[in-house]
Amino acid sequence: MTLLRDIEFAVYQGSNHLAQRLSYATDRRLAKPNQVSVLITDICAARCTMCEMWKLQENNELTVDEWKHSLDQLREWLGPFFLVISGGEPFQKRGFFDILAHCRQIGIKTKVSSNGMYLTEKACDRILEVGPDFLSLSIDHLTREVHDKVRGVPLYDRCVAAIGMLQDKGSKIVLGVATVIMEETYADLVPTALWALEELKVDRFLVQPLYPTFATDEAMAPDWFEHNPHWPRNAELLESQLEELRRLKRAGHAIWNPDEHLVALSYYFRDPRSHPRPDECMVRYNAFNIDPRGDVMFCWTVDDRAGNLRTQHPRDIWESAHAQQIRDKMKGCQAPCLLNCYRGRSLREQVGLFKLFAGRQGF
Ligand SMILES: C[S@@+](CC[C@H](N)C(=O)[O-])C[C@H]1O[C@@H](n2cnc3c(N)ncnc32)[C@H](O)[C@@H]1O
Ligand code: SF4
Ligand code: SF4
Repeated sequence: MTLLRDIEFAVYQGSNHLAQRLSYATDRRLAKPNQVSVLITDICAARCTMCEMWKLQENNELTVDEWKHSLDQLREWLGPFFLVISGGEPFQKRGFFDILAHCRQIGIKTKVSSNGMYLTEKACDRILEVGPDFLSLSIDHLTREVHDKVRGVPLYDRCVAAIGMLQDKGSKIVLGVATVIMEETYADLVPTALWALEELKVDRFLVQPLYPTFATDEAMAPDWFEHNPHWPRNAELLESQLEELRRLKRAGHAIWNPDEHLVALSYYFRDPRSHPRPDECMVRYNAFNIDPRGDVMFCWTVDDRAGNLRTQHPRDIWESAHAQQIRDKMKGCQAPCLLNCYRGRSLREQVGLFKLFAGRQGF
């Protein structure tokens, strides 16, 4: 069963990748999305200084049954696929483990980003039963002092303990650490990466560029970075850290950002208004983003609603004339964005992801 799913997944991803390339070449929708992401909830009990999600209230979110229904539809439309789950804090969503269990039951691989706050021993045991298959913990610095200051509440010990518990219990899930590049963290990206990979022994380390802030309207003001207190002030020092991460990656360390992304980040932090992009924006033909209310969009920043899962089948949203109008409008967008979720995954990255999971537990 697992081998069959592996083969089904590999064949689907390979052929869909080719169809996506054709979509860009002809600017016509010829493929299905391969980057399906959900914000499962808005709520979060942390108090991060660089993210304002915690100020949001729960508002008309899809229920567990509504998620299950939509996930069934997505699975039937896309075959076995990879779902990225973020928030808010996903483990704070009521019934979240039921959603994960459903994904596993119907053949959807899941990656969850978490602040670690709710990862008690009991929660780790549930994770071993139902997933996610890839757990990325957000740890911004190798020291407790810096991380907890940035996060506004003590989360460092919880994260470190959860990683240890999952490893001790023989977990086969992929574990990662994700670090935001910002004033408080950028001078120590390399020691943080080595600490995560060699001391915590996680499978992947990822850096995420500072974005204006999540959940506010001032997000894309052209000069946002000039006033943002978290913007790294010394671009040369940051560049030397990124160069060292590239060297570590070439030497075989599991730095998850593609090399061209690390290069692009140096330019981005010199001036986000004019940084060269590593590749054309792919989101309109590969991304399917779902917010906590079931609204579907291609890009979290452009924020145009293509439809809603409460009333529409995901395939109908993707193929609608309205969606195509949004794509036409997005074409040529030059917004300064380099978040990992905005980049299209290359075939090489997709194969890497596939091999990572196939080696652990298959699809
Ligand atoms: C919005 S959080 C949601 C998931 C979860 N609450 C967490 O913190 O991991 C998703 C990711 O965005 C990162 N993040 C938060 N604020 C950011 C910002 N201003 N710029 C870039 N990334 C940010 C977080 O560290 C996390 O890795
Ligand atoms: S980064 Fe994550 S933990 Fe921090 S406030 Fe935002 S959603 Fe919450
Ligand atoms: S370039 Fe524009 S459309 Fe593409 S991901 Fe960035 S903001 Fe969205």
